[in-house]
Amino acid sequence: MHERSSVGELAEQLRRELDCYSPGGKLPSSRALVERFRVSPVTVSRALAQLSAEGLVVTRPGAGAFRARPHAVAEPAGDTSWQEVALSADGVAELVPRTVDASGVTVSLTTPPPGVLEFNGGYPHPSLQPERAMAAALARAGRRPGAWGRPPLDGLPELREWFARGIGGAVTAAEVLIAAGGQAALATALRALAPPGAPVLVESPTYPGMLALARAAGLRPVPVPVDPDGVRPDLLADAFRATGARVFVCQPLFQNPTGAVLAPDRRAEVLRIARAAGAFVIEDDFVRRLVHADSGPLPRTLAADDPDGVVVHVGSLTKATSPSFRVAALAARGPVLERLRAIQVVDSFFVPRPLQEAALELVGSPAWPRHLRALSAELKTRRTTMATELALHLPELALPHIPSGGYHLWLRLPDGAGGASQAFGSGGESALTAAALRNGVALTPGRPYFSAEPPAAHLRLSFAAVAGVGEITEGIRRLRVACDEAL
Ligand SMILES: Cc1ncc(COP(=O)(O)O)c(C=O)c1O
Repeated sequence: MHERSSVGELAEQLRRELDCYSPGGKLPSSRALVERFRVSPVTVSRALAQLSAEGLVVTRPGAGAFRARPHAVAEPAGDTSWQEVALSADGVAELVPRTVDASGVTVSLTTPPPGVLEFNGGYPHPSLQPERAMAAALARAGRRPGAWGRPPLDGLPELREWFARGIGGAVTAAEVLIAAGGQAALATALRALAPPGAPVLVESPTYPGMLALARAAGLRPVPVPVDPDGVRPDLLADAFRATGARVFVCQPLFQNPTGAVLAPDRRAEVLRIARAAGAFVIEDDFVRRLVHADSGPLPRTLAADDPDGVVVHVGSLTKATSPSFRVAALAARGPVLERLRAIQVVDSFFVPRPLQEAALELVGSPAWPRHLRALSAELKTRRTTMATELALHLPELALPHIPSGGYHLWLRLPDGAGGASQAFGSGGESALTAAALRNGVALTPGRPYFSAEPPAAHLRLSFAAVAGVGEITEGIRRLRVACDEAL
């Protein structure tokens, strides 16, 4: 059995049995628990630690574990309803009211209920994560001299150097800051580049977590359509003219959700248009390391082709490792770097040094290139399986583009014009999502990816968060049933 679930099960069993002991009474020894439940000593100690964190058990080194004594006086419940007034009152003076809505982010971070297949996940399944290499890297990092000391505020120089080499072009380590994951780097960049109330150009559709960040910063996202070749330069130029925006957020590689790659002839055009508008391009390079096997050479980063400091580059390690490996690069050239640095230090000081040391250990180990090769091959197999199963069993869902990187497919539902497919309008999108969940498969509806009215109903299906191709086949079967129900 998986270590994590056996810890949870043992903790649950002990929780149920706690009433058998008087408050302050001693629980059986760890050895007795190991023998009785046939689990490892590590499982026992983690289950006890969980109960201790819940305040149900007290552990005393050398003496054992004891049932906690209840608090003598219940804490007063309090009345927090005043906050509803306080949190809304600031809208009165604001041009663009701040809305803080985490749903677009939490959807890819929460674990679905047991038995539900995770077609909505935003990170690789544990079996695709380099778990052993990460554990070894963390152990080695912990033993490095000064591992628990303060790191340089901009990040460890060797790690900045490593990211700079990956970004390419003339980018140097001095132009790279280490950030706590792509999300934090995007937040810093948006706040550094646009004052509250300002418009910010975004691709349409785009990553809901970025839209949420923009809105939480009081910015006004303005959509610019994406086609299979990436953002449309003609409409980008129009949008700059119409809004006077100073920022455009772009994912040139394996865009989330469409999987589009910005076409070679559009790359220079996007930079030229932004430069002419006096605007920055935030390049969200979130899945560079998730290219599928046999896809040919990867395009360079936009930052590598930008000597003039138009691009603020964000590149993260999480998607190729684990959502908990929150290490990313925020790179920029020119005076803007100082602004980014100041905001990051004020907000969060620095990324914990042990994690930075572990990142260096990981990417420098022989296991790293091996992991990336295996990930790339497995993602290709999964993508092919999902696309084939969809074509066979759900031909009414259009798959306009098969991506050569990333971890998801973007499907267009039949137009709402007439007949049975009426149910697939934007309301049908949520009906289908709900029917899918009832049938044991969690997927992501398209609506949150659009900052304004969507042109059609869509679904995003992720193939990285499930356990393997068997779950992909089964998930598509369940989705077929859900479609028949929702029609
Ligand atoms: C397009 C895009 N950018 C950035 C992120 C943030 O990722 P992280 O903070 O884990 O690096 C995500 C996560 O799903 C994403 O999809």
